[in-house]
Amino acid sequence: MTASYHDLKGKTVLVTGGASGIGASLVRAFCAQGATVGFFDIDDSAGEKLCDLIEQELAVRPVYMSLDLRNQDAIPVAIGELATRIGTIDVLVNNAARDDRHSPAQTGPAEWRERLDVNLSHQFFCSRAVAPAMAEQGHGSIINFSSVSYLMGLPDLVGYETAKAGIIGMTRALARDWGRDGIRVNTVIPGCIMTQRQLDLWITPEDEARIQEQQCLKRRLIGEDVAQMVLFLASDVSSACTSQSFIVDGGLV
Ligand SMILES: NC(=O)c1ccc[n+]([C@@H]2O[C@H](COP(=O)([O-])OP(=O)(O)OC[C@H]3O[C@@H](n4cnc5c(N)ncnc54)[C@H](O)[C@@H]3O)[C@@H](O)[C@H]2O)c1
Repeated sequence: MTASYHDLKGKTVLVTGGASGIGASLVRAFCAQGATVGFFDIDDSAGEKLCDLIEQELAVRPVYMSLDLRNQDAIPVAIGELATRIGTIDVLVNNAARDDRHSPAQTGPAEWRERLDVNLSHQFFCSRAVAPAMAEQGHGSIINFSSVSYLMGLPDLVGYETAKAGIIGMTRALARDWGRDGIRVNTVIPGCIMTQRQLDLWITPEDEARIQEQQCLKRRLIGEDVAQMVLFLASDVSSACTSQSFIVDGGLV
């Protein structure tokens, strides 16, 4: 089930990490609303495949651009190039991340920086790159992605969880700095969303049964569940919401 947000029709949306998982659900959901969508990823074959699928299904083709978001200097250049192709970005969804497991003992200075680069820093540098044009037009919505893992204190994710906690502070700081320009900044905190990567790498059928036992709602959560919250935060229907975190976890935490 999905709502229709008339103001999203024709809006220009950038989704990071849009080639697979929740990001692919976001790209598809914005295309279905009639938005003009661009997305960044490092998985080129998944990116092009998603464009083909959406074109077949919805008769519109999002714009895929290959970009390693750990390369912070390349971010403003890529966003400038995307804007020349699809227009000034109205909505930025900072979705990309990498939840590889890592023990504290395995995490030296280089690994620590890598965890922050892939899970936190690009959210700041993408926001910083879209903000001037948003300020000029007097509106914009930035939606950052955190994770319930930092609230639950899950094992072997110290760098990831530190990044995901940092995103809450970054959201509040940027919402304050840019509120006077009409830019809203919010965070979405997903729970256990059964993307292909989660099912392939981390979640066994026993894990999933245990998760559903812990959730108030006894069903599998999927990318579309998160996309519904993101559409709401992107649309002007949430125009009074900024500096906040919105948990989508079926009542897990
Ligand atoms: N799936 C869950 O259960 C869950 C739970 C809590 C939070 N989240 C958050 O939701 C967001 C999406 O998660 P997901 O499960 O869909 O992840 P995923 O791993 O399935 O997809 C992430 C996407 O980001 C891309 N990506 C990774 N590193 C990149 C880089 N350096 N440059 C460009 N693209 C890169 C990947 O190629 C992939 O397409 C993330 O921010 C994640 O932390 C997910």
